[in-house]
Amino acid sequence: MGRRPLIAGNWKMYKNCQEAVEAAGEISMLVADVLSDIDVMIAPTFTALAPVAEKIEDSPFFIGAQDIFWEKEGAYTGQISADMLISAGCKYVIIGHSERRQFFHETDDTVNKKIKAALDADLVPVLCIGETEQERENEKTFSVLDNQIKKGLEGFSPEDLKNLVIAYEPVWAIGTGKTATTDQAQEVHNYIRDLIGKILGTDLADDMRILYGGSVKPDNISELMAMTDIDGALIGGASLDPESFSKIAHFT
Ligand code: 13P
Repeated sequence: MGRRPLIAGNWKMYKNCQEAVEAAGEISMLVADVLSDIDVMIAPTFTALAPVAEKIEDSPFFIGAQDIFWEKEGAYTGQISADMLISAGCKYVIIGHSERRQFFHETDDTVNKKIKAALDADLVPVLCIGETEQERENEKTFSVLDNQIKKGLEGFSPEDLKNLVIAYEPVWAIGTGKTATTDQAQEVHNYIRDLIGKILGTDLADDMRILYGGSVKPDNISELMAMTDIDGALIGGASLDPESFSKIAHFT
């Protein structure tokens, strides 16, 4: 059986509606031949979700959002609910990205609420975790990940989390050109899978997709994907160019 790879693009705050639609159209043609073997997802900015979904309507690749708010509706100016994401064509939602933790005061507690909102609506959460450079230097990597996972996933059953995706993104490797070595990445992915096994059971851990993120490029994806516990990638910079994103999706 094995875990189905997922190659996901996080477009962050790049590309307006027209640019996003154009790039998504190119990507849908470029990756068409791999979609029988892997899942491909792109996460444009909120305003581009619906036009992108409309553009790629006939292509079996997925759209994700970059964030979600946990309430169903209400007087929460500027926030976006799960139902709004679904009606815009989303299947996935990225939760707890380090940029949201760093710049927008996201905490493990808000991450937990957002995961609940996503699961209640049948969206697939992509939970982002990762240590900073200082935490790694101080040998805190595993304790940081422990906390992010235990608090982020508190209160959920293995059944609740059967579709959850985890993205390990060492903060020091995001947008810096520094990639974790394949051994460093594999070590952490293996640690994460073990931890999930201990707290939620090995069946869930064996099936869970754990993505690597942080300066993934066409020239390093193959060696990352060759690692036992790396099931895909969450790509920032290199996902903005359809050609380079497509090369990554053709990692085999
Ligand atoms: P880069 O690929 O630009 O390092 O970004 C990674 C990331 O943050 C994806 O969510």
